[in-house]
Amino acid sequence: MRSHYCGGLDSHSIDQQVRLCGWVHRRRDHGGVIFVDLRDRNGLVQVVFDPDQPEMFELAEQIRSEYVLAVEGRVRARPEGTLNPNIPTGEIEVLASSLEVLNSAETPPFQLDEYHTDASEETRLRYRYIDLRRPEMQQRLGVRAQITRYLRRFLDEHGFLDIETPILTKSTPEGARDYLVPSRVHPGEFYALPQSPQLFKQLLMMSGLDRYYQIARCFRDEDLRADRQPEFTQLDIETSFLDETELTGLMEQMIRGLFKEVLDIDLPDPFPCLTYQDAMRRFGSDRPDLRVPLELLDIADLMSEVDFKVFAGPARDAEGRVVALTLPGGGELSRKEIDEYTKFVAIYGAKGLAYIKVNSWTAKGREGLQSPILKFLPDSAIDGIMQRTGATDGDLIFFGADKAQIVNESIGALRVKLGRDRDLMQGDWRPLWVVDFPMFEHDPNTDRWVALHHPFTAPKMDQLDRLESDPGGCQSRAYDLVLNGTEVGGGSIRIHREDVQRRIFRLLKISDADADQRFGFLLNALKYGCPPHGGIAFGLDRLVMLMTDSSSIRDVMAFPKTQTASCLLTDAPSAVDEAQLRELALRIRLRA
Ligand code: AMO
Ligand code: AMP
Repeated sequence: MRSHYCGGLDSHSIDQQVRLCGWVHRRRDHGGVIFVDLRDRNGLVQVVFDPDQPEMFELAEQIRSEYVLAVEGRVRARPEGTLNPNIPTGEIEVLASSLEVLNSAETPPFQLDEYHTDASEETRLRYRYIDLRRPEMQQRLGVRAQITRYLRRFLDEHGFLDIETPILTKSTPEGARDYLVPSRVHPGEFYALPQSPQLFKQLLMMSGLDRYYQIARCFRDEDLRADRQPEFTQLDIETSFLDETELTGLMEQMIRGLFKEVLDIDLPDPFPCLTYQDAMRRFGSDRPDLRVPLELLDIADLMSEVDFKVFAGPARDAEGRVVALTLPGGGELSRKEIDEYTKFVAIYGAKGLAYIKVNSWTAKGREGLQSPILKFLPDSAIDGIMQRTGATDGDLIFFGADKAQIVNESIGALRVKLGRDRDLMQGDWRPLWVVDFPMFEHDPNTDRWVALHHPFTAPKMDQLDRLESDPGGCQSRAYDLVLNGTEVGGGSIRIHREDVQRRIFRLLKISDADADQRFGFLLNALKYGCPPHGGIAFGLDRLVMLMTDSSSIRDVMAFPKTQTASCLLTDAPSAVDEAQLRELALRIRLRA
């Protein structure tokens, strides 16, 4: 039906006869001449309808926004003074010789002719098929396809096989709630949708397939955030006979190649690597944004004897932490701004946000400091703080004191917020590996150990004999890839021995009987010649979100769900009729 894409025309096309198909982006009547910006996937071009073809002109007068047209005409240079440098086709226009209206359109619920639509996200999601016509949405989906194309090519070239795994399956523990699907054939029984293909990809290694990948849909019923969807996509990978250095090396090569190909960015070679412990200590987070040049400094040793209980308490508590965070030039923060930051850290459970403004330390010493907590701190503590932080005149030092978890979360988040607010970000892309994670985390509510990654992650070989006696002190062979503060991928070397896998289940208080019932197929498979294996999964949506500089994961998915996990376009989830329920042997019992 067409000879060219609208956006593909330029001054080289002048004098060509073209046939275009697309949507009416904008229509303007200019004293007897009608201008239409015709839009397709590739961009916009201006089409001119002259009144000297009365029949065509009359038809052109009737067209409205979002009508679908086929236009034939000749490309010509725009007259002097009407060039539009803002669009690629701004030097030319198409003088129409024929017009066919392929379809009309009702007035769209929001205008598409502004670069930034002011429509609410709700309206955009309800009319997603219109929203996706916006050039920036098309561009994002285009980049997404470019990314998957590159990843597939890289993996194909490195001997990986693309293998599908079931969607109707059994629960895989990745830490979220399962989505369940009732079985008609087995009344009262349910499939679980996979939280990841984890167990199947391990089984494929046991089957000798050696290198697997899949662009896999995962389903997790958890609280949603800007970077979390109930249904999302992983680039899922598993390999045999590679250790963590070999595997992460290969993955790095892939990610570096991806950034070069799609964004023409050279990522560092190799990626820096931090231990979990160092990441928590220096940044309060296991997914630190390395673009922010601020670090948490421990000062508990300086505070254990001071009269200020807020600091001395956590300083003496084995589970407590006291830190300082210096903001260069922060002396100019107003009282109001500091109050705002105090409210911000309160979201993470911090009970306050002490600070010292360094007005004139060099000339005046202690007298040159300004702080509500100064009166509690002896000279020795002040000297210690100033020495350790290296803060100078004009700086501001923030303090956090509490249980380590609260300090890490609150001051870790403050660090990133300050980086953004104060324009401190350095460098555009800062990837890193985080390694040496603890095997387990203690859950005080249930008094149980829980796996920090998933329970199939191998412990460090040399710590095997300490598993039961010191679970909290054991580390796993897991690794996360972090980019600009987002965890874009995570994986591990797996347990490939049945006895070790059983010990881990026991430690997690999964009884032998329970383990057999839930993971019997895996435990069995481990007995029949399981190779050492390991893998990783990248959050594809998150990667695309970062690479397209989008603020929400929803902007890089064609049909995302809302914060409450609904699809506004189709109105899912929705009630089903009684007959369907009966067929599934289900009855709805509403919560009281
Ligand atoms: P994990 O649970 O860390 O590991 O998931 C891997 C990556 O998937 C992304 N991700 C998400 N993206 C969007 N919405 C979500 N709800 C969501 N949850 C996770 C993250 C994360 O890094 N089977 C293991 C991998 C392995 O061990 O090989 C797994 O699923 O970017
Ligand atoms: P208060 O003695 O409660 O008035 O607190 C004195 C200063 O310490 C105030 O600036 C508080 O914001 C700050 N503060 C209180 N609790 C904490 C805490 N847990 N961590 C850091 N600063 C705190």
